[in-house]
Amino acid sequence: MELVNVESIQENSRYTGEITIDGNLLVCGPGLPVTAGTLAALEEWGFTEVQVTGQAIEKPGAEGAAENPVKPAAESAAPLQPEPEQKPAQPSEKEAPPPERTVLPAEKAAEIRIALRQMVDFKDSKSTEKEKQAIVQSIYDKYIEYLDALFSRYDSRKDLQHQELPEMVKILEGVVSSTRRYLLQVQPAALDPQRSYLLNHALRSTVIAMIIGMQMALTSAKLVELGISCILHEIGMIRLPPDLYLSAKKLTDQEKKQLSIHPLLGYNILKESGFSPSILRGVLQHHEKEDGSGYPYRIKGDKISLFAKIISVACTYEAITSARAYKDKESAHKATVELLKNTGNHYDKEVMRALLFSLSLYPIGTYVFLSDGKAAVVVDVNSKDPKRPVVQLLKEKESSGAPKIITTGGDLRVLRALTPDETAGIKKSLEGPR
Ligand SMILES: [Fe+2]
Repeated sequence: MELVNVESIQENSRYTGEITIDGNLLVCGPGLPVTAGTLAALEEWGFTEVQVTGQAIEKPGAEGAAENPVKPAAESAAPLQPEPEQKPAQPSEKEAPPPERTVLPAEKAAEIRIALRQMVDFKDSKSTEKEKQAIVQSIYDKYIEYLDALFSRYDSRKDLQHQELPEMVKILEGVVSSTRRYLLQVQPAALDPQRSYLLNHALRSTVIAMIIGMQMALTSAKLVELGISCILHEIGMIRLPPDLYLSAKKLTDQEKKQLSIHPLLGYNILKESGFSPSILRGVLQHHEKEDGSGYPYRIKGDKISLFAKIISVACTYEAITSARAYKDKESAHKATVELLKNTGNHYDKEVMRALLFSLSLYPIGTYVFLSDGKAAVVVDVNSKDPKRPVVQLLKEKESSGAPKIITTGGDLRVLRALTPDETAGIKKSLEGPR
């Protein structure tokens, strides 16, 4: 390994080994050309030296990677910025142009506006709980279709059509504000694992991030920026092999290095598309941790932007409560407890406090035992006390037949959350004999 001055590296030069920052953060893979974009990014971020393994490959040419007979594993993770020769080539006379996506983000945005008409007077509607849940589910599904169009367009054309995104996130802010209780209970869209990771994770994390942001009294303009940053926080993954973030197998050190570059890839994608600095920082720093043990820059505490701190908590909460190809989903209560264990060292205390007060220690949908021996399900948060949520008793109804809903407090408190087995048993007993 050799320390090399960035100024001495020529554009399009290549090395037999990796170029990294601090031996950890991959800047350029073996055999790949160091692009002008990569050099500009290093200069912008103030890196004057990089670590290089292997030898310089002689006669660096403008053709760069095209001359390289080796297809390195890190190829798709490589340069910090796309270089001209890696952009889709102009089609030759014989080659048909790549097929245009028939569904554009703008079309899906229009469908969302139509779907939202169902929400008029949602609060005062006489719709049943089940019907309200179905309406919110349909809105969630429309947003997933919009994100699918947005990501697919970028994936196939390297063109992030985000003109409608601020408006879509502004509308989402209203949806989150008025239907949070239902939105937290929606079923993730049934997609293949890669799309599910990119789309369901993006949208569910954004809902949670916006709930936290609202609890922290962010202005509407800031909430929209936070939402945009969170929706796009994993967009860098599009440039990585899906196996890196979907595989159940333990990653090698090399694979971890590749994965750790995704915030930087996302930052560059959004920077090219003209997003604001606060949105960029949210994406770039969403894996940083309070104690400096995160990545890519291992920055600490107040060096991490508020958006990144919120996205970090929201994204982790979402990941714990979601099923993946390699794991079952955990309860929202367990996710909250897991996050609390790392408050201060990984997660910001104020952000965690906002999560706790907005989602409760016993989040909506959690089955609990009460101190009077009854079982209940949490149906709403108590903004004054995260330990005392609003619950619906499972085996009692009002004389009118309506569900019996009470706010815990005084002598009546939540003893504990039910285990997954206990929850499954209670749900089964409520269904009754078939
Ligand atoms: Fe990430």
